[in-house]
Amino acid sequence: MDVPDVLVVGGARPLRGRLRVPGDKSISHRALIFGALAAGSSAITNLATGDDVRATARVLAQLGATVGSEGDAVIVSGGGVAGFTEPEDVLDCANSGTTMRVLAGVLAGRPFLSVLSGDASLRARPMGRVVEPLHAMGADVDGRAGATCAPLVIRGAALRAVRHELVVASAQAKTALLLAGLQAEGETEVVSPSPSRDHTERMLAALAAPIVVDGLCARIARGAPRSFELDVPGDPSSAAFFAVAAAITPGSDIVIESMSCNPTRVGFVGVLRRMGADVELTVSGEVCGEPVGELRVRASELCGTTIAGDEVPTVIDEIPALAVAAAFADGVTEVRDAAELVVKESNRIGTLHEELAKLGVGVEARGDGLVVRGGRAAAADLSSHGDHRIAMAMAIAANALAADSTVHGWRAVSSSYPEFARDLERLTGAGTR
Ligand code: S3P
Repeated sequence: MDVPDVLVVGGARPLRGRLRVPGDKSISHRALIFGALAAGSSAITNLATGDDVRATARVLAQLGATVGSEGDAVIVSGGGVAGFTEPEDVLDCANSGTTMRVLAGVLAGRPFLSVLSGDASLRARPMGRVVEPLHAMGADVDGRAGATCAPLVIRGAALRAVRHELVVASAQAKTALLLAGLQAEGETEVVSPSPSRDHTERMLAALAAPIVVDGLCARIARGAPRSFELDVPGDPSSAAFFAVAAAITPGSDIVIESMSCNPTRVGFVGVLRRMGADVELTVSGEVCGEPVGELRVRASELCGTTIAGDEVPTVIDEIPALAVAAAFADGVTEVRDAAELVVKESNRIGTLHEELAKLGVGVEARGDGLVVRGGRAAAADLSSHGDHRIAMAMAIAANALAADSTVHGWRAVSSSYPEFARDLERLTGAGTR
């Protein structure tokens, strides 16, 4: 999809109607990778449409998997982990941290040389959280800045199972180590400091891989997932932007259908409820170990709240959307214990601070979060800073304001949700401008 680099939006138009957002990005990456690790063919429908998941598909093809399509399904066929072959060129993960970190865990156990790289933003993001524990398993992984930054150079080796105690509650790091563990002799244990998204554990268990979860500890033995058919549920991180847009724009009433309701992903629903939002989450089924349902949101008056502690990993990608909710709420919202925001696709503490200030919102940046004083916002000239979630956050703030705002660098939205502007137009009834 051709996405323009500038978005003009405004008019305080209410959002009304039903929407199915693109497939969950985290589940989509895993579905492609697990499909390549399984012997045989897997069929995936409603795969995420953004550039990040495309990067995973492209890299898997470079590693010898076949990624094609049949009707509206993406078909992944591989010869199991043993079918991975040495890539001829650098593996370009573009802007996608999940592609790089998770595949580092797979490639650490493959008997060939591979190099993972990406765009300037990804090359600046921390990789030590994956590389260091992989070293403990006997992996040969090098990289820039003392192996803490990409490009990562991996010479696959025989891995030994160890117990990892993660310092950061990172699902990408956890997943990398579990996929390395699938190739190691013995039982690999990964202990997280607090809950992080658990798609890997749920999906691998549903696909008969040898994994056992006990609270914050996941144990895995040598093995592989089986091939599968999966209809990927909608991405709650994408839905969160529409949920906030509806909550802050008077007259709104929307339903987001077929959304992943994984408890590690829908923390934003609880935060919005605490802020006084009119939100209803209804779980109606399960696919591949993942609860699925729908989310209804109606506009209402919001108040400030505090987001801190163990809640943070369950809303980490939704903080840009929640910061916009805070900007339109009555009172003060504080985000604490969220230093991870600094190492996302942009430094989201810095970029949210800069953009909310342009909107005239009272905002203070802290080392581990933000303080937002809601209630005053006016149209402005805004920037995505090359970060898809900052782009969407600014679009929903702009939509709630009477005058038009401009979001520069809009194209960044393509990482996860190229169709976002079209879907916003559809719900607001606005014509293309
Ligand atoms: C993801 C995990 C999170 C999240 C990212 C996707 C995943 O990152 O922010 O957008 O799919 O595992 P961390 O693992 O760095 O917390």
